Amino acid sequence: MEEAKRILYGRRRGRKLRGSQQRLLDDVVPRLEIALDDAPRPIAPETLFDRPVREVWLEVGFGAGEHLLAQAAANRDVGMIGCEPYVTGVVRMVRGLVDARLDNIRLWRDDARLLIDRLAEASLSRVFVLFPDPWPKTRHHKRRFVSRPVLERLAAVMRDDAELRIATDDNGYLVWILDRLQASGTFLWTAKTPSDWRVRSSDWPATRYELKALEEGRRCTYLRYRRLPRDRQGDRQGA
Ligand SMILES: C[S@@+](CC[C@H](N)C(=O)[O-])C[C@H]1O[C@@H](n2cnc3c(N)ncnc32)[C@H](O)[C@@H]1O
Repeated sequence: MEEAKRILYGRRRGRKLRGSQQRLLDDVVPRLEIALDDAPRPIAPETLFDRPVREVWLEVGFGAGEHLLAQAAANRDVGMIGCEPYVTGVVRMVRGLVDARLDNIRLWRDDARLLIDRLAEASLSRVFVLFPDPWPKTRHHKRRFVSRPVLERLAAVMRDDAELRIATDDNGYLVWILDRLQASGTFLWTAKTPSDWRVRSSDWPATRYELKALEEGRRCTYLRYRRLPRDRQGDRQGA
């Protein structure tokens, strides 16, 4: 049963859209958007694409879409689902998609959790949560995207050995994330040396938020987790 969810994200609307942006929103966005009302239960995400895809990756909160677009361009045989409620970010991403003639991105413009709830078990091969809103005040911690129920649901929809990538520039949120992933019993942090979390690898494109954080002197942390195979869950020693 789907529980009623408190909306997690911040603002949805920014400045008034220019004419060309409004046209993208009216003409292109509806062709990319996932319509949950008409979708089967559960949704097999590979069926959301117009052509066969090797696997499906999902990005939560893509912002203006730099990472989503770069991954889609570098991995044309992968279907990418981008989740972002902020309309200005959505039209920026769609502008990039049109310019690069990408046909492997589908869009979800609401709280990512509502879509993740509807996906089939073991259907995603990668999930990206890049610079989620840190909600630093204690009374706002309950709005943080990385939480026990979300991790449980992600574990359900991710395939065995699927990768979860999380980045943050907020030390408080970093500790929170490490604690919750450690407690999950389902995800294994794959870092071997400090450079694995301090340096962004070449297959991990930069985001706008990250570049701003670095410019302002904040250190960014790049975490990679592996979803443990279902028959080895909780068996971290052997992982
Ligand atoms: C700090 S911004 C980072 C954006 C982008 N990932 C980057 O690194 O430039 C966080 C983004 O997550 C989006 N967001 C927050 N909660 C979300 C949710 N529950 N589902 C989908 N997107 C969400 C926000 O709208 C915002 O654009």
